Amino acid sequence: MGNRFEGKVAVVTGGASGIGRRTAEALLEEGARVVIGDRDDEALAECARTWDPTRCATARVDVTAEDEVRALVEAAVERFGRLDIGVNAAGIGTLSPIRDHSLDSWRTVVDVCLTGVFLSIKHEVRQMVGQGDGGAVVNIASINARQPGEGMSAYCSAKAGVEMLTKVAALEVAQEGIRVNAISPGFVDTPMTAPTRQAVRDRFIDSIPLGRAGSPGDIARAVLFLAGDEASWVNGETLVVDGGEVYREYPRLLTGF
Ligand code: NAI
Repeated sequence: MGNRFEGKVAVVTGGASGIGRRTAEALLEEGARVVIGDRDDEALAECARTWDPTRCATARVDVTAEDEVRALVEAAVERFGRLDIGVNAAGIGTLSPIRDHSLDSWRTVVDVCLTGVFLSIKHEVRQMVGQGDGGAVVNIASINARQPGEGMSAYCSAKAGVEMLTKVAALEVAQEGIRVNAISPGFVDTPMTAPTRQAVRDRFIDSIPLGRAGSPGDIARAVLFLAGDEASWVNGETLVVDGGEVYREYPRLLTGF
């Protein structure tokens, strides 16, 4: 517990589970007020029960719907008066070779993982620009932005897009004192990766030089670094937080088991 983010207001998309949830919690522990945006009502209700309602609010949002993303930012302003930090963590994955990939599932993954980040940045920075005193955005990309994975065409493409979107956004709003950065996590134990078969999980761990999966806290600490004053001259950067995973061969998810 500390006060690094005392007086700051944050929104966290995908904040009801995994990396987003731990990030929201870490921001609360450091004094921020936080609005958790997610499309999972049950998980949102659990967050609302867990944290102090005077400092934490929840909002149902589908990040692919612009009016809902706009409403999420408005909710932060209505509830806590301003917006200083946007953490864009909502994401989903899929596994299918391109030749069998349905257009629908391609569009769904790209919509959530890339278009959702675009809409989130758009409405977060609009609010921050209006306030006139800067801000910080942290997008959650993935090592799959750089690391191709068999069967992961939509996810890898969308995450590569998030890295580039981060750089473009950083250029556009730097003069307003707003920094935009990204984190690219490796394999992290969250509800997203929980269904991974044991043999596949073992192969992932084998591909991580530090010999263990990441925890949501490993990523949350990096998000707080990029969102905070310690990173005041870091802009347009993607920080890879993966135990060294990108330096080893990626598991062959379609043909390797
Ligand atoms: P998770 O499944 O635990 O959490 C993702 C959250 O996003 C869920 O609460 C879900 O309801 C929400 N969400 C999904 N679609 C949404 C939408 N359209 N609108 C609003 N909310 C939506 O997953 P995890 O692992 O915490 O993932 C967080 C981010 O980290 C994602 O962007 C993921 O791609 C990324 N990531 C995860 C890695 C891992 O190994 N777990 C590795 C690299 C990146």
